[in-house]
Amino acid sequence: MKYFIANWKANKNTSEVEAWIKSFKENYRSKNDVCVIVCPPFPFVRGAGRQLTDLGNVFIGSQTISSKEFGSYTGEVTAKTLEGLVSYSIIGHSERRKNFGEKDEDLIIKVNLAKKYGIEPIYCIRDEKDPIPAEIKLLAYEPVAAIGTGLNESPKKVVEVKKKLNLAPETAFIYGGSVDENNAKDYLTTQEVDGFLVGGASLDPSRFFKLISSV
Ligand code: PGA
Repeated sequence: MKYFIANWKANKNTSEVEAWIKSFKENYRSKNDVCVIVCPPFPFVRGAGRQLTDLGNVFIGSQTISSKEFGSYTGEVTAKTLEGLVSYSIIGHSERRKNFGEKDEDLIIKVNLAKKYGIEPIYCIRDEKDPIPAEIKLLAYEPVAAIGTGLNESPKKVVEVKKKLNLAPETAFIYGGSVDENNAKDYLTTQEVDGFLVGGASLDPSRFFKLISSV
C-alpha cells in the first residue's frame, strides 16, 4: 500500500475547497494499492468527507488534534469531536512543534486520545532523534530543511534515516518535504518508502493527482 497524504495546512477558503474537490473527483480512479488521505483545515473536514470518501480508498484526516479530551478549552478541536469525521490525524508536525510549542509529552497524549476515539495517528518526526510513541502505524519522516523549500531530501538519505529508526515491519514509513509530481517516483523505486506527506504540491488538485499517478 502506498499512502498519499495531502496536508493543506492553513490554506484554502470554501470556494477553493469546492474547486479542489470537483477537480479531484473528475480525475481520481481508485486503485487497490493506493490510499489517499486528505487533511483539510477543520471547517472543511466534514464536507470533504461527504464528497470524497465514497470514491474508494480516500480518507479524511485532521492536521492536528487537541491534547485535551473535552471540556472548557475554548477553541480546541478534540479527538472526541472528530470521532467519525476523520480516520487519521497528523500529530507532531514540525510546524506545530515550532509555532505552537508542542512537546513530545503533549504528542503522546494526543496519540492516545486519537486512538481512544478511533483515529489513526500519522506521527511526524523531524529526524531520528525524535522519540516515537509505541505502536505507531504511520510514521512520517519530515526533515525541517526540506519542508516547503523545494529541497527534497535524497531517497538515499531518507532510506538511511529509516534504517536508524528500527521500525516494526508493519509500520508504514512516509516521507515528507518538498515531494512533488516529478520527484515522487524516485522514492518509490526504493521499495522502502510507503508514501508521502505532501504540502505545497497537494494544494493544486492536478499536481496532487499526477503525484498519485506516479505509483
Ligand atoms: P511541503 O510540506 O510538501 O510543502 O514541503 C510537507 C509538510 O509539511 O507536510
